[in-house]
Amino acid sequence: MRSEKLQAERISKVYGGNGGRVAALHEVDLDVGAGEFISIVGPSGCGKSTLFNILAGLIRPSGGRVLLDGSPPDQLLGEIGYMLQRDLLMPWRTVLDNTCVGLELNGVGRREARERARAEFPRFGLAGFEQHWPAKLSGGMRQRAALLRTFLAGREVMLLDEPFGALDALTRRQMQAWLLDLWQADSKTIVFVTHDVEEAVFLSDRVYVMSGRPGRVVLCLDIDLPRPRRQDITMTEGFQALKARLMEPLEAALRETQPGAVG
Ligand SMILES: Nc1ncnc2c1ncn2[C@@H]1O[C@H](COP(=O)(O)OP(=O)(O)O)[C@@H](O)[C@H]1O
Ligand SMILES: [Mg+2]
Repeated sequence: MRSEKLQAERISKVYGGNGGRVAALHEVDLDVGAGEFISIVGPSGCGKSTLFNILAGLIRPSGGRVLLDGSPPDQLLGEIGYMLQRDLLMPWRTVLDNTCVGLELNGVGRREARERARAEFPRFGLAGFEQHWPAKLSGGMRQRAALLRTFLAGREVMLLDEPFGALDALTRRQMQAWLLDLWQADSKTIVFVTHDVEEAVFLSDRVYVMSGRPGRVVLCLDIDLPRPRRQDITMTEGFQALKARLMEPLEAALRETQPGAVG
């Protein structure tokens, strides 16, 4: 029996303000077991980043609650690793010092933080780039540096908001394989937002499909494909069938929002 690591219970969010009220999420339930890889797909603007901000404790829900290890934590903020959708590296810090930020925020001294970060550079495909400026790196390397920063913060659960969204197809596939290796080696719990259904099926134990705004969960599908997975699994009938089952409600959600909007 799996133990629940992170749960969203009927989470709703209405943004207030001068521009009027925006209902972003409606009674979203999410169950993430320890060590699972869960993905969320849904149209652009359906509240995926809002849900992550709530799970990370950055904003409060209008209704519902977040449970960690089965109960509401006293303080959610800081408990969960979070790579934001636009998680840019700081251009005035070297790559090494960028990856140290989470450790430093945890109170680790800069010297020790650098040592711990440096030790991970080879595994993240960044060896030799410690003293480079972020602007000198390729898109894939910048994403890996941002992921390393999130990993180093040392949380069991990590929220990754479209980490590979801006990468070309080939780099993206390499990064997917690499992320799965990393996830298995470190037995982390990952919640992953993507607009790419194939990516979601390839990576995940379970995929949630959200409706257009206000975002609701319209389908939750177990991905019972064997692991470890290699890229050629995407060609199998089983894989394609799962993808088709997810595409149907996703396309319905897209039709009810703007044509072509996804992400
Ligand atoms: N701080 C905010 N104030 C008001 N509206 C917001 C705020 N943040 C997001 N929204 C709105 O909430 C909806 C969901 O946004 P978001 O969570 O970013 O969606 P997604 O990540 O799925 O694209 C959008 O309509 C967005 O414009
Ligand atoms: Mg978003």
